[in-house]
Amino acid sequence: MFSQPEPRFLYGTAWKEDRTATLVQFALRAGFRAIDAANQRRHYFEAGVGEALADSYREGIVTRADLFLQTKFTYRQGQDHRLPYDPSASLAVQVAQSMASSLEHLGTDYVDSYVLHGPSSRSGWNEPDAEVWSSMIQERNAGRTRLLGVSNVSLQNLEEMAASGAEMPSFVQNRCFARFAWDLEVRNFCKERNIIYQGFSLLTANLDVLHHPAIAELAEAIDATPAQIIFAFARAIGILPLTGTSDPEHMKQDLASLQLKLPAAAVQAIESGFAVGS
Ligand SMILES: NC(=O)c1ccc[n+]([C@@H]2O[C@H](COP(=O)([O-])OP(=O)(O)OC[C@H]3O[C@@H](n4cnc5c(N)ncnc54)[C@H](OP(=O)(O)O)[C@@H]3O)[C@@H](O)[C@H]2O)c1
Repeated sequence: MFSQPEPRFLYGTAWKEDRTATLVQFALRAGFRAIDAANQRRHYFEAGVGEALADSYREGIVTRADLFLQTKFTYRQGQDHRLPYDPSASLAVQVAQSMASSLEHLGTDYVDSYVLHGPSSRSGWNEPDAEVWSSMIQERNAGRTRLLGVSNVSLQNLEEMAASGAEMPSFVQNRCFARFAWDLEVRNFCKERNIIYQGFSLLTANLDVLHHPAIAELAEAIDATPAQIIFAFARAIGILPLTGTSDPEHMKQDLASLQLKLPAAAVQAIESGFAVGS
């Protein structure tokens, strides 16, 4: 599916405001090669990501071809007043305008993945979603993105999307809660269809797991941190993880977790929820 290296760990750029450029540069220096952004100024500063990319190319740290760049189209209701499109234009036009603006922000003529930030409703696959998705497919066909994704989706969203006959995405990006068996229903749907599941908030949505004594014990035994255990666990069950750390030391630790192989029994124990409510 990938002509370029598969992303192994996504560096998330939300909530970094005027530190975005500096932190993305740190992340690239630390070794991240996959970057997650969105053309949603309310939570992301996409132009700051582009600034970091330009500086990193200039300094010879990476080239565009080394990178997996992902960004998103966000509906009007997910935005503040700083819109990357004309809100009175049709949704199809809004997608084209948002994409053009993302490419300008990122200083590139294509992204690797273009994601619908969230469907118009928690249930179903509705008319606006179909219109946006078909415009995203046109962007892909025109070469402005290699791949497509959807985010913040329920199983019902995905099932109705499939039932509508729509082309299915290459990626699903969801907040991943241990208390919902790490989004098992959606992960299973993805697995059956070769869709790569990207998980975010792996640490912050699962603090009871992160701080569970069994995780601390395992971390001690294999000389890792609890956060590294969670990321290694996520990967072991087929999740492509995101991290949005602002700490250069955590950046290195997060990447080093790629080298960690957890005992199968530990993966099973975490997945089956030993740490939740026990
Ligand atoms: N599709 C969507 O709607 C959506 C929604 C939310 C997020 N996202 C994406 O996912 C990315 C990641 O967001 P996130 O919700 O997973 O949370 P996050 O922004 O990565 O926050 C992680 C938190 O955990 C802390 N932390 C402690 N130890 C850590 C370690 N070793 N490694 C990493 N973090 C550590 C971080 O603190 P330090 O900074 O001190 O390390 C930070 O406060 C975002 O930047 C964004 O790209 C997408």
